[in-house]
Amino acid sequence: MYKVIVTDPISESGLRALTSNPEFKVDQKTGLDPVVLAELIKDYDALIVRSQTQVTRDIIMAADRLRVIARAGVGVDNIDIEAATEKGIIVINAPAGNTIAATEHTLAMMLSLARSIPQAYGSLTSGKWERKLFKGVELYQKTLGVVGMGRIGTEVAKRAKGFEMNILGYDPFLTEDRAKKLGIIKASLDEIAEQADFITVHTPLTPETRGLINADYFAKTKKGLRIVNCARGGIIDEQALVDAVNSGQVAGAAIDVFEHEPPQNIGLTQNPRIIVTPHLGASTTEAQEKVAESVSEEIVGIFTAGSVQHA
Ligand code: NAD
Ligand code: MLT
Repeated sequence: MYKVIVTDPISESGLRALTSNPEFKVDQKTGLDPVVLAELIKDYDALIVRSQTQVTRDIIMAADRLRVIARAGVGVDNIDIEAATEKGIIVINAPAGNTIAATEHTLAMMLSLARSIPQAYGSLTSGKWERKLFKGVELYQKTLGVVGMGRIGTEVAKRAKGFEMNILGYDPFLTEDRAKKLGIIKASLDEIAEQADFITVHTPLTPETRGLINADYFAKTKKGLRIVNCARGGIIDEQALVDAVNSGQVAGAAIDVFEHEPPQNIGLTQNPRIIVTPHLGASTTEAQEKVAESVSEEIVGIFTAGSVQHA
């Protein structure tokens, strides 16, 4: 029997491929202290995480029989890949299962930002009636800069076209031909700075993208820019964003992901012009079911047929 431990909240029904297979035993233990996980991991053949559990070198080195680490989501940034490779452990993920969830969260954040919906809700529920304070802006005919035109950036661009926005896309792999097919304009980061009323970032966090949107960049953007990050904390430099919002250069921001989670910068989290959500981009019933299904089926495949689909 193969033992699988799940250490972040994940859809139980999505785990059916494992839980209904007599060759597997699944234990769900969330919110574990890293030291406790390093002890428990010795007994397991596979580990399933979302973004919360940090699968550190210490945890990986403590594992005696672990063969697979699965990230039920995009990327593998919370897993020490070097340590896993050293131990011959396969690392898999589910890159596409939460694309629509993250896309729709981005659109929800953009609309909330345009109309100050969270702030207006807070005002009304605290007993106030402040209609003048919350005059918003329209998305219609505004220019949206999409930085990172992969799975989520592309879906965001398609939906933003439905609001009749003009879309500028920046991605090193975006061709003129693909931009044309999507009905968007291929642009440089500087062109986006000059023209965009809204910017949304959808790149991975890499050494190249860390601080991609920083103080120097905000100095070049249009005054009154609104900016969204539902990708990864750190792509937008948090302190530079706070400074740009406080100076009025940036009219508002909507942030789902943080350099440290939970976030520590109260200038960001308690700023009346910055909307924040606690890393909810992938948190829909459908997405969690899809990512759990994807990694479960893949784990069954690895142990029973030796097959691997994603690396
Ligand atoms: P993807 O790999 O499909 O797309 C990423 C794109 O970024 C690629 O097209 C790549 O070419 C581009 N890119 C890389 N470096 C770049 C750079 N320097 N400048 C511009 N573009 C660059 O990934 P995806 O599935 O679309 O995910 C996008 C981001 O959203 C990732 O950071 C992912 O981790 C994050 N995400 C967050 C949530 C959430 O819960 N908030 C959920 C899902 C995904
Ligand atoms: C992802 O990148 O897939 C999400 O951030 C994962 C999650 O929310 O667990």
